[in-house]
Amino acid sequence: MAGITDSEFVKSVMSYGFDMVTIGGYNTDKETINAGEEILKNGRKEFLIPEEEIINHLEREVNNIKKDFNVSVSANLRATTPDPIIEISKIKNLDVIELNAHCRQKELTNINCGQSIMKDEYYFKDFLKEVNKKAKSKVSVKVRANVKGIDTLNICKIIDNLNTDFLHVDCMKHDYPYADLMLLKKISENTNIFIIGNNSIVDVNSAKEMLSTKVSGISIARVVMDKKLNFDLNEIKNSI
Ligand SMILES: Cc1cc2nc3c(=O)[nH]c(=O)nc-3n(C[C@H](O)[C@H](O)[C@H](O)COP(=O)(O)O)c2cc1C
Repeated sequence: MAGITDSEFVKSVMSYGFDMVTIGGYNTDKETINAGEEILKNGRKEFLIPEEEIINHLEREVNNIKKDFNVSVSANLRATTPDPIIEISKIKNLDVIELNAHCRQKELTNINCGQSIMKDEYYFKDFLKEVNKKAKSKVSVKVRANVKGIDTLNICKIIDNLNTDFLHVDCMKHDYPYADLMLLKKISENTNIFIIGNNSIVDVNSAKEMLSTKVSGISIARVVMDKKLNFDLNEIKNSI
C-alpha cells in the first residue's frame, strides 16, 4: 500500500505469520514520480523517493526486513518502461519484483501505468515479456480484476503463458462489497500459475473461502493496515 507498507510497517505485522511481504507501491521513473507527487497533493499517501535513490533505498528497505525475519520480500513497482523494474530486480536479497497493473488513480492511468497497462494487450505482453526475460528476481504481476474494457481472464492467461512466477489478483468488483470469487475460480481453473488471491479477507472464514477457489496463496491489505487482523495465518496454513 503506497505510502504505508515500508519495511518498518511490515516488521510490525510479522507476528501474524506472513511468509511473503510486499513493500510499496514505489514510483520508479520520472513519469511515475511526477504522478506520485500529484497524487500526494490530492491527499493520498505515497512513497516519494528521488529516481536516483530508488535502488539504494529499496536495498536498505529489503535488508532492514531480512536482518530480522526469514521472509520473502516483494516490491510492488510502477514504471512506464521495463528498465527500472529490471534494474530493481538486481537488488540482492529482493525475492520478487511485482509489476503494478492495479492502481487506478488517474495520474497513473493517464501515463499507461497501473491498471491501464493492461488496456492494450500487445503493449502489456511486450512489457512483461521484457521484464520476465531480464529480471534477476522472481516476477509477479498484481492485477486489478473487472476493469471496464479489460478481459481479466485473458490478461491472466497472458501472464501465465509468459511463464511469470506469480499472479496476484485483487478480485474486486465494482459496487460489490465482497471478493469476486467466481472470477477467481475461473482464473485458477484456466491457468497453471501460482495465484495469490486478494480482496476483502477480514477473518478466517473469508480467507478459507478464497482458498476454496484453488488459488495457491492469499494476501491481505486493509485489515492489516488497520491492525485488525484477528487470526494467525498459521491457522489457515494448517487447515489446507
Ligand atoms: C491506502 C491503500 C494504498 C494502496 N496502494 C497500493 C499500491 O500501491 N499498489 C497495489 O498494488 N495495491 C495497493 N493497494 C491495494 C491493496 O494492496 C489491496 O489490493 C486492496 O486493498 C484489496 O485488498 P484488501 O481487501 O485485503 O484490502 C492499496 C490499498 C490501500 C487501501
